[in-house]
Amino acid sequence: MSRTAYVNGAYVPTRDALVHINDRGFQFADGVYEGIAVRRCKMVDAGPHLDRLWRSMGELAITPPMGRKALDVVLSEVIRRNRFSDAFLYIQVTRGVAPRDHAFPANDIPATLFVTCKRFDFDKVLQRALAGVTGITQPDNRWGRCDIKSTGLLPNIMAKQSAREAGVFEAVLVDSDGYITEGSSTNIWAVTEDGDIVTRPITDNILGGITRARIKTIAEKLQISIKDAKISVEQAKNAREIFITSATSCTTPITKLDGEKIGDGTVGPVAKRLIDAYFKFTDN
Ligand code: PDD
Repeated sequence: MSRTAYVNGAYVPTRDALVHINDRGFQFADGVYEGIAVRRCKMVDAGPHLDRLWRSMGELAITPPMGRKALDVVLSEVIRRNRFSDAFLYIQVTRGVAPRDHAFPANDIPATLFVTCKRFDFDKVLQRALAGVTGITQPDNRWGRCDIKSTGLLPNIMAKQSAREAGVFEAVLVDSDGYITEGSSTNIWAVTEDGDIVTRPITDNILGGITRARIKTIAEKLQISIKDAKISVEQAKNAREIFITSATSCTTPITKLDGEKIGDGTVGPVAKRLIDAYFKFTDN
């Protein structure tokens, strides 16, 4: 079945969905994006994802291509036209089309907006979460504004490719001081040797994950206390549990890092509770 995308005002078959070669997103990665999971035709945490999209555009002084309510209508329409019950929505906004010049165009050009949708298998993600995945550490070579969800993802994709080539699921990025920042496309959490549940503060050059925030709210309800703190690679390897969170991995434990077992090498009790609670939340 051919998929439908939205591009600059029109719903078109995805295979015919094109942007201009002078689009600044294409030439400079001068753009931002969001990825939203859809469970039973309903977007998971749409509000916070759109808040973050607006924040990312604001940080880069990109004029939003439309209002939030209008974008919400477009997103619902893309879901409806693709007839998926469970899906992953991708939204990209770039500064727009202009002859190549590093500085922003002098005139206010319209931003480029497109939305695509692909099938997303929640059951497979749940099965994978319950089995656990493996990871490797990689140097974090990114810039100092990882709080912006920019389409400039070369360091992330290089790290993910290294993970793929090593036969593991996620690359765990490590800063120059030996502390874990986040995954190539996920936030990282640990249950330390002492039993503290920690995740790096979002002020510390990482993306403020929407799933990270949701897991914090869920944990609070379950009276599980979470601390914002840096995790060194050594602490991570001695941790009882490590897990990742993102819109597409939900909550997924890493049971082996750089070939070393985390805890006893199986999915731990904290992750199990959070996986269960997060999937229940997406089902409602
Ligand atoms: N990635 N950190 C990074 C670097 C990410 O790219 C992502 C999301 C996250 C988790 O954010 P959230 O919980 O809001 O999905 C953390 C998405 C899924 C992607 O790039 O496709």
